[in-house]
Amino acid sequence: MCGIVGITSNKPVSVSIINSLRKLEYRGYDSAGIATLSNGFINEVKSEGRVEKLEKNIDTKNMIGSVGIGHVRWATHGVPNKINAHPHSSESVSVVHNGIIENSTNLKKNLVSIGHKFKSQTDTEVIVHLITELLKKNDLKESILKMLNQLEGSFALAIIFKDHPDLIVGARRGSPLAVGYGPNENYLGSDSYALKSMTNKISYLDDGDFCIVKKNHVEFFDNNGIKLNKKVLKLSSNEENYGKGDYKHYMAKEIDEQPITIKNCIKEYIDNINNDINIYNFPWKINDISSVTLIGCGTAYHSCLMAKYWIEELSSLDVNIDIASEFRYRKNRFKKDNLYIFVSQSGETADTYAALDICNKNKMKTASIVNVIESSIARDSNFVLPIHCGPEVGVASTKAFIGQMLVLYILILKISYLRKEIDKNLYIKKIKALKELPELVEKTLLTESKIQSISGTFTEAKGSMFLGRGFSYSIALEGALKLKELSYVHAEGYPAGEMKHGPLALIEDGIPVVVLAPRDEYYKKTISNMQEVIARGAKVLLITNKSKEEIFSENIWEKIEVENTSNDLFPFLITIPIQKLAYYAALKKGYDIDKPRNLAKSVTVE
Ligand code: F6R
Repeated sequence: MCGIVGITSNKPVSVSIINSLRKLEYRGYDSAGIATLSNGFINEVKSEGRVEKLEKNIDTKNMIGSVGIGHVRWATHGVPNKINAHPHSSESVSVVHNGIIENSTNLKKNLVSIGHKFKSQTDTEVIVHLITELLKKNDLKESILKMLNQLEGSFALAIIFKDHPDLIVGARRGSPLAVGYGPNENYLGSDSYALKSMTNKISYLDDGDFCIVKKNHVEFFDNNGIKLNKKVLKLSSNEENYGKGDYKHYMAKEIDEQPITIKNCIKEYIDNINNDINIYNFPWKINDISSVTLIGCGTAYHSCLMAKYWIEELSSLDVNIDIASEFRYRKNRFKKDNLYIFVSQSGETADTYAALDICNKNKMKTASIVNVIESSIARDSNFVLPIHCGPEVGVASTKAFIGQMLVLYILILKISYLRKEIDKNLYIKKIKALKELPELVEKTLLTESKIQSISGTFTEAKGSMFLGRGFSYSIALEGALKLKELSYVHAEGYPAGEMKHGPLALIEDGIPVVVLAPRDEYYKKTISNMQEVIARGAKVLLITNKSKEEIFSENIWEKIEVENTSNDLFPFLITIPIQKLAYYAALKKGYDIDKPRNLAKSVTVE
C-alpha cells in the first residue's frame, strides 16, 4: 500500500529517497514518484510501475535538491498511471499522501470555482490546491492548521514548499507517520522500514499531530498548533534480516525460515528447564477474563479462527472471532470481562487499528499479537505479544501466519492452565510437543518436490477448492487465499461438511480439490466428504499425516503426508504444503511472487 519518504539534509537526497522507496516496495504499489527542491524550483519525476523504472527516469546528477519527498502509490482514487502517481505539485508546493480524503469532491468543487485547474483524478490533488490557496493569505503554520481542519478522512502527508526550502511538513490522521533522526539530516517515513537504512532513532506522530522537519531540528504540534514533546525510540531489528540470501523470492525464503522462526518464538515464551510458559506483565487477573474476542483481517483472521478451535478445545472461555472491517461498524456489546485480541503482522492495518481504537475508547481490555513491535496497534493496545519472526517482506503472509498461530496457541495454553482447565501433566505434555515443532516443520518442508510437480494442475484449472474440518478448516481458508492472491486463479476454502449444501455443484471432471485431513477426531468425516467430491470427478490432493493405517478411499489423485504430532498441532504442519503450492503455482505463471497484484503488505486504507 502507499508509502512515504521525506529527507531534509545538507547534501542531495534523491538517491537516498529512491533507496528508501525500495524498502517500501514490500507494501505493494503500482506507481512511484519523487520531488526535490533545487534552486527555488520543485523538480518532480514520476512513473507508472516499479521504483526501478522511476530510477531510470531520474537524472540524479541534476536532481541535486537537499530537501525532497518520495512515494509509492497503491491506487484508490484514479487509475494507476503516471499522472495519478504522487507527488502532486503546484508551482509552490509538492505533496505525497497515504490514505483517503473523503470530502475531496466538495473541496475540489470550491477550488475549481476560484480558478484552480486539476490535472489528476486523485483525491490527493485537492491538498495541493488547498495549501497553495491558503499560503496566499497565511503563514506556514496557520496554513497547515487551516488545511488540516478542512480535510476529512484518513491520511499521512509529507509536503515541501518552494518558499520554505529548508523543511518538510508531515501530518497524520489515521495513517501512520514517523520522524527519523540522522546526523545533519532528518527524515519522514510512513513506517519504520522506510527509515531503517538511515537511522534507528525515531518518533511517531499521534493522530492529529503535524510536524516541521528541518535538517537539524524537528518541531511537533497537536491539532490546535500547540507544541509537543515526543519520545525518541530506538528501533529493534537491523538491516541484515532483509536480504533474500540465495533465494529467488522472499516468499520462498520466508516459508523455509519457519523452523527457525518457530524456534525463536518458542525460546521467547517457553522456559525450557521448567517446561513452563512465560508471559510477563500480563496486566489482568486471570479470573477477570471470562470470554475472548479475536479480531484480524485476511490471513491474520484465519489465525483468529484457528484460535477459536483451540480455545474451545482447551478451556471453557466463551470465544468470538471477527473480521476487523465488520467489527468496527457493528453495534458491539462491550463486556468488561472480555479480552479483545487484535492479530496483525504489520500492526498498521487500518481496519484492525480502528477496531482496537473502538475497544480502547470503550475502556476494554485490549491485547495485540503483532510482528512489528513499533507499530500503531502494538503501541496502542494494553498488552503486546510479539511473534518474533523477523521482518516479513513477501507481501503474502507466510511465516507471520505460523507465528500468529504459535503465539495464540502458547497464550491459550497458559490461560487454560492458569484457569485450571488443563492439569499440569497435560500442560507439560503440550509444551514438550510444541518444542518438537521446529524439527517437524523442517521435515515437512521436504514434501516440496511433490508439490512443485503438481502445482501446474492448479494454475491450468478454472478454479479449485480447499476443504477441511475442525483444526484444518482455517488452514483450508488460508490455502485458498494464498493460491488466489498469488496465482490469480479462483480458489475457495470450505468446511468439508458444508459441500453438500450447495458447493458440490462446482465439482466436475478434473477440478483440483485439496483435502486437509490429518488423522485427528475429524478425519473419518473429512474422508467421507472427500469421497463425495471424488465421485463427482474431482482430482483430490489429500494432505494427511504419515500412518500405517490404510486410507479407505480409491482414486485419490495425489497424497502428501506430513509428520506426526498431537492433533491440535497438525495445523502448523499442513500449512507448509499449502504455502508451497501457492508459491509454485505463481512461479509457473511467472507472476511477481513477492508483490502480487492489488495486494499490499500494510493495508492502511479501509
Ligand atoms: C494475505 C495477507 C493479507 C494480510 C491482511 C492483514 O497473504 O497478507 O490478507 O494478512 O492484509 O494484514 P496484517 O496482518 O498486517 O494486519
